[in-house]
Amino acid sequence: MNTAKQTALFSSAEAAQRQQKKARGATKECLPRLDAHPETRERLLSFCRLQAGEVWHDPVHGHRVGVLDAADRADVLKVVEDEKTPLVINDPPYNVRAGNANTINLGKIDLDEYLEFSRKWVQNALEIMDENAHLYVWIGADHTDNFQPLPDFIMMMRKFQELRPRNFITMRNQRGYGTQKNWMWVRQELLYYVKGNPPFNVAAEYTDIPKILRGYYKEVNGRFTENLERSKSENIRAGNVWVDIQQVFYRMEENVPGCYAQKPLKAIERMMLASSEEGNLIVDFFAHSGTTLIAGEKLNRRVYTFDIDPIFAEITIRRLEHYRKTGKTVWQWRNPFPELER
Ligand SMILES: C[S@@+](CC[C@H](N)C(=O)[O-])C[C@H]1O[C@@H](n2cnc3c(N)ncnc32)[C@H](O)[C@@H]1O
Repeated sequence: MNTAKQTALFSSAEAAQRQQKKARGATKECLPRLDAHPETRERLLSFCRLQAGEVWHDPVHGHRVGVLDAADRADVLKVVEDEKTPLVINDPPYNVRAGNANTINLGKIDLDEYLEFSRKWVQNALEIMDENAHLYVWIGADHTDNFQPLPDFIMMMRKFQELRPRNFITMRNQRGYGTQKNWMWVRQELLYYVKGNPPFNVAAEYTDIPKILRGYYKEVNGRFTENLERSKSENIRAGNVWVDIQQVFYRMEENVPGCYAQKPLKAIERMMLASSEEGNLIVDFFAHSGTTLIAGEKLNRRVYTFDIDPIFAEITIRRLEHYRKTGKTVWQWRNPFPELER
């Protein structure tokens, strides 16, 4: 190979490497974890349209987003007013030190104080629920601290006699945390309660996973039939162990940079489809990245949601605006606050 050709090859390989490096840089999340980064928070607060106690009314589909406290009855009524909802989907802080940071949004407090906070927000949820309604609650269990607060929360819920436990769902994460000396922690817990006797749409339970097992013969009209012949679908039901939902990470379209506790859209959509109908009002007391609002917008439900933190309320509104403008469920690794880069 002549030298000129060699040089050209090397420089194009170098250029490709530079390009790759640049692309890698470009896909890095552009915001630090927002609840744990005071300097970024300070700058972002000036871009937030809502202050504590305020509610934004969506002029297009009637959603609402507030900066409110889930434990404060007057705050909850400020956004819901005298309406009632058939479905509350709440993802409160879990009372664990998320990623070893103890922040105000996702921090660890004394267990009794946490249970008092939980009692208050559950009472507030109960008050705005229809006579027949569903309540889903995500909750954690800290194995380094006697699995609190999951069992304590479940016991506390026994006091609410109007709420009946209906199921205990586990969603499996793809990535987990753990050491070589313990089983990897890949689970997220979701408690399901009902008030009265609300309808459940079982069609929402079917996954995209084909049934692979044949058998379970049963005689129908004098003929032996297999389970596959008898069943309503070629695919399996999600049941109460959800293994088919991708955990959100920074390369997924729905990712919201800076949000540490984002839940997958598919999980929220599954609950909405199973436990509500088009046109219904859905309420979520802990908006964070605005997942419930986007699910509602996609599935033709109205959503009233709020967060105690004006930054997450702003992100929730911006996520809806971005979805309407681009059809994308959100920013992937790109910045929800482009003002920061100017
Ligand atoms: C676990 S995250 C919710 C995640 C959400 N489901 C999602 O997919 O993005 C909990 C949120 O609750 C908010 N929060 C904490 N205390 C609150 C309170 N008293 N009232 C309302 N929101 C609160 C935090 O700021 C945080 O954004």
